[in-house]
Amino acid sequence: MKFVVDQQVEDIEMPENLKLNTFLQEFHSDCPHPECNFGYYGFAFGQSPFPVPKLIQEALIKNADKGAYAAVPGIPELRNAISKYNKHYFGLDVAPERIYVGPGTKELIFNLLEILHGTVILPTPAWLGYLPQIRFLKKNYHMLPTRANKKISPNDLRKLALRLQDRQKILILNNPNNPTGLLYDKLELEEITDVCREQNILVISDEIYALTTYDFSKFVSMAKIYPEGTFVTNGLSKSHAAGGYRLGYVIFPQHTSDFRSQFKKILATEYTAVSTPIQHAAVAGFEISKDIDEYFIVTRNIHQIMGEYTYHKLTSIDGVKATKPDATFYLLADFNSFALDLQKAKITTSQKLSESLIIHPYHTAIVGGDSLVLERTDFSARIAYVDYDGAKVYEKYLKNKPKSLSEKTEFVKKNAPKVVAGLDMLVDFFLNLRKDNLSELETKQSSMVSPS
Ligand SMILES: Cc1ncc(COP(=O)(O)O)c(C=O)c1O
Repeated sequence: MKFVVDQQVEDIEMPENLKLNTFLQEFHSDCPHPECNFGYYGFAFGQSPFPVPKLIQEALIKNADKGAYAAVPGIPELRNAISKYNKHYFGLDVAPERIYVGPGTKELIFNLLEILHGTVILPTPAWLGYLPQIRFLKKNYHMLPTRANKKISPNDLRKLALRLQDRQKILILNNPNNPTGLLYDKLELEEITDVCREQNILVISDEIYALTTYDFSKFVSMAKIYPEGTFVTNGLSKSHAAGGYRLGYVIFPQHTSDFRSQFKKILATEYTAVSTPIQHAAVAGFEISKDIDEYFIVTRNIHQIMGEYTYHKLTSIDGVKATKPDATFYLLADFNSFALDLQKAKITTSQKLSESLIIHPYHTAIVGGDSLVLERTDFSARIAYVDYDGAKVYEKYLKNKPKSLSEKTEFVKKNAPKVVAGLDMLVDFFLNLRKDNLSELETKQSSMVSPS
């Protein structure tokens, strides 16, 4: 029997997690070379390598007996803990009633897009999670390409908003940003807010990477700057390395009690509530404690060390630019100065670049421009620097914290050999590409001058 798939599903873009798995399975067939049996150098997956904090694991075990359904917006203990957590880390005064819990921020962002009327403004490059949702919901949307600094230009935002007919618009702000690793400062957020107020733009501020900010004193939540128009989403996935727990939350803007009742209908219809034991475990993750605080500090310091090594290695390639990350475990590398060399090697799209890097002899997985909502011919790529044993590296860091640049370099070399070797592969790929094209050119030139 053949089943007919609903057109709406056929039409949506493949979400990032499926796209990546399919790609890696398709292109990483077993290599016949015996030295390649290690798999591949993984710069593609956006997952924290660290173990889930012990406190959360223990709380989950202790609450395994909680078999009853939870209240739709979340258990009161958790909403209270999240409220205090937001006060402590982000200086936000949000009553627990303004916080709803959901199975991951991805789902909550989808729910917000379901409930909010209006055209979506999606700055690019972007995390590929948003676009399939927007398409699935058949929402009007416009890309807002960023300029050289890879951040939203308030002027461009204003120009775009002036062209849109909708009385309400929705800006997706991802701060700190996946894929660039960049952080918006207070002034930048204020300038965006001015335009939002003027043009009636609501903001979904995806702040899932907030606590990975390397210099945490610099992080400012959009809810502080634009409290009446910002929906903040955050959760356990990145800061607590617990993506598999599927727990996120949304903070609603001020004065939204009617709106929240409507939102509750959506959650109750779609998933009733988040798993009760997971909610109890999450309380331990959001309660302020020395252990969790130390976990944030250690993990973000390690991300920073890996990020700086990655940034310096990639930008040592002549012509390669990269964002210098302030947070997250990603940076955006720009290989467009190699466009001609790539085209000569018949690598005409970012997808082809990803394919050429995954096959022998490079075995290196990256996320290409087409998966970052960029043009197919944009040779930018997201590099995630997380291919190491997080539990081991965490312990090593605690025993001996590297301080100087040379100690940090040594730390990466000792503890993240696959990051180091994978970056060497990337360097080799681009140097070889240039060399091959140069020698081809020289052969052509010498055959032109030699008498035939
Ligand atoms: C920018 C961004 N937002 C949201 C998510 C999804 O988070 P969650 O696990 O809470 O659904 C991710 C995961 O990769 C992400 O990178």
